[in-house]
Amino acid sequence: MNQHLTVITGASRGLGLAMSRQLLAQSHVVVAIARKRTELPVPPGGELLGWSLDLAEPLAAARHLEDWLAKSEVTRWASVTLINNAGVVSPPGRCQARRVRTCRTPCAWASKRRCC
Ligand SMILES: NC(=O)c1ccc[n+]([C@@H]2O[C@H](COP(=O)([O-])OP(=O)(O)OC[C@H]3O[C@@H](n4cnc5c(N)ncnc54)[C@H](OP(=O)(O)O)[C@@H]3O)[C@@H](O)[C@H]2O)c1
Repeated sequence: MNQHLTVITGASRGLGLAMSRQLLAQSHVVVAIARKRTELPVPPGGELLGWSLDLAEPLAAARHLEDWLAKSEVTRWASVTLINNAGVVSPPGRCQARRVRTCRTPCAWASKRRCC
């Protein structure tokens, strides 16, 4: 019972990849989930399991994790952590406001947070 297991979603790039790299450097066992398999150099003491799963199919992913946990030696883990990081940030789009006004005079409605 001396290893830390971290299951991290969205680990193929961005924040998830960076967190996975840091966890591996701290000798965690990292289960890295994304559609594209996570590829990272694994330092001594760390262990990386890159699973290619689409979390839009959550039941299949949950079953895969459940099966793996059932086969793993539970007494091996000092801690088990889930970092549910997967997601997408859509690119910034156009402002939806009909008109953007700029205050040039002191605003009488400032206390009500309205523009003059
Ligand atoms: N970056 C920001 O400024 C910011 C701000 C606020 C919140 N966040 C949140 O922080 C998290 C990470 O952001 P990020 O900038 O690192 O995003 P990112 O670079 O776009 O990475 C998103 C990760 O999620 C995975 N992913 C997306 N859809 C998936 C699916 N259906 N199944 C499995 N994996 C999936 C991607 O892998 P695959 O494409 O290989 O599947 C990728 O590894 C997101 O939840 C985001 O909403 C980010």
